[in-house]
Amino acid sequence: MRKQIAAANWKMNLSLKEGITLLEKLAGEDYGLKAYQEVIIAVPFPYLIQSREIVKDQPLFHIAAQNCHTEAAGAYTGEVSAAMLASCGITHVIIGHSERRMYFSEDDQMLARKTDMALAEDLTPIFCCGESLDIRERGEQNSYVASQIEKSLFHLSTGQMQKLVLAYEPIWAIGTGKTATAEQAQEMHNGIRSTISEKYGEETAQMVPILYGGSVKPNNANEIFGKPDVDGGLVGGASLKADDFAAIIKSLK
Ligand code: PGA
Repeated sequence: MRKQIAAANWKMNLSLKEGITLLEKLAGEDYGLKAYQEVIIAVPFPYLIQSREIVKDQPLFHIAAQNCHTEAAGAYTGEVSAAMLASCGITHVIIGHSERRMYFSEDDQMLARKTDMALAEDLTPIFCCGESLDIRERGEQNSYVASQIEKSLFHLSTGQMQKLVLAYEPIWAIGTGKTATAEQAQEMHNGIRSTISEKYGEETAQMVPILYGGSVKPNNANEIFGKPDVDGGLVGGASLKADDFAAIIKSLK
């Protein structure tokens, strides 16, 4: 069974105290997680180490960073490298979230470099892709998402590709309350798997978990996660409330 993952993305929300309270609540509950199921929580940089401590007795809980830099070290004031994350015992990092692409001008080449940096440090990249509303309205979403993946990831070896987690997040569904239908998610996830399969073969395509993100809530998670090519979700707004995110974790198949 491919990994099934409930991933939280707190973005730039919650004070340290609020974050700790939320994590303690989440980590204190018994979800009856199976060995192939995982919970990943992407917190702001200053909360990483303390967060890692809070979940250390939950072997299927992991803490992620929301970004890393393209270089390993040097004069880049305000930035954090993959090597630094690894040195803090962090295991996962989100790369290429649409907010990074949009507000921080991160392009496909930069994201390729960040992915390399993460993999070199043995971090699992959670690589995000997804189209804007106009691309979807023009019906060009499949080729657009395929090209994001090709440009940032197709230089990887098969072994490296097998270490990735992908997240399909249509920009028009992020934070808008407008979710892709389960059918739209399934269609795109299946398309992403075909893109991977053409380059790396079917075995690798079947191994890579593909999460859906964009207004995942307790009332739609079951249906979306129930689709065969959807392996869980990357959750923003609903991950800030313990009860909502706990319900989403319980919706993993
Ligand atoms: P949302 O965010 O769940 O608030 O739509 C998802 C994301 O941006 O990862």
